[in-house]
Amino acid sequence: MQLFETKWRSPSNIALVKYWGKYGTQMPRNPSVSFTLTNAHSDTFLRISKLEKEENNGITFDFLFEGERNIAFRAKQLKFLESIEWRFPWLQTYQISVNSSNSFPHSAGIASSASAMSALALGLCEFDAALKNEPTSGDDFLRKASVISRLGSGSACRSVYPQLAMWGALSGVPNSSDEYAIPVANDVNPIFHTYHDDILLVSSAEKSVSSRAGHSLMEDNPFAKPRYAQATQNLTELMNAMRTGDLARFGDIVENEALTLHALMLCSQPSFILLKPNSLAIIEKIRDFRTETRLPISFTIDAGPNIHVLYPDEYKTEIQSFIHSELLSLCENRRMVADMVGMGALKVK
Ligand code: PMV
Repeated sequence: MQLFETKWRSPSNIALVKYWGKYGTQMPRNPSVSFTLTNAHSDTFLRISKLEKEENNGITFDFLFEGERNIAFRAKQLKFLESIEWRFPWLQTYQISVNSSNSFPHSAGIASSASAMSALALGLCEFDAALKNEPTSGDDFLRKASVISRLGSGSACRSVYPQLAMWGALSGVPNSSDEYAIPVANDVNPIFHTYHDDILLVSSAEKSVSSRAGHSLMEDNPFAKPRYAQATQNLTELMNAMRTGDLARFGDIVENEALTLHALMLCSQPSFILLKPNSLAIIEKIRDFRTETRLPISFTIDAGPNIHVLYPDEYKTEIQSFIHSELLSLCENRRMVADMVGMGALKVK
């Protein structure tokens, strides 16, 4: 094939049970599960054209982020391409051009690696399938895209599936694997397909620890072993709570996971404090509001200071009015990204 062009839109995801700790080629130390989001996504246009000379000089790669050159992002994506050359040997004989953009502000402290890496992986898998006359959609295609996404950024492997995706081998869950994520939305009460995730932007400052460094700190963390066992237990219990529609138990487990992630960072060496005073103030207000109203509001947190507020759509009127009146004043410039559980990655026509 001389020329191939495609564009994929892939969303970010928010982990409910956290992946924190890895080994080998992006293999997780414990299984995880996440909501696939809607509004926070990356759009990646991929152009693959045959090189005139087939010299073995490494990968020929052009990268634009939001229409402009971005050296740091290019380096990350090139490293990813080099790491998958053994699966896609054609990478040597084509010119690869990527033009990528995010729907969310770059400086908002929302991780973009899951959406960006999965969008690129989907485009590459589509080309690879086209070369081999294989289907460019369906279960096998998505599974392969999940494997390739994982090699770009572990959590990216969950972004290709709608609503809810689980990554990591878990006994009793057929097809679960450390190599790819599987869709598990049909295993839960449909109320969880309606969940909102309002991302309260407490600080947009650059993170003081990269997720790569964070994962590697787990290697010497004295609590690593019990943590991996706890994550497995939490995942099993969370899936049961979601199956039976137990919103209170869902909130307990999800908050325990978020605070455990930060506890692990607090006691790593060196130690990292990513929560800000306003992150804690927001958490306290959410818990007080829940006690007073008995509404099913809960929170989770990524590896940063922003608070993700989770609630089912049927309670949006009361909960959004609480967020606007009580929580937005604790955010940087009253910033929030209103998101929801979404339908996964899609090819843009
Ligand atoms: O995919 P990575 O290497 O950026 O790690 C993601 C880690 C967390 O976001 C903190 C948890 C998760 O499961 O997404």
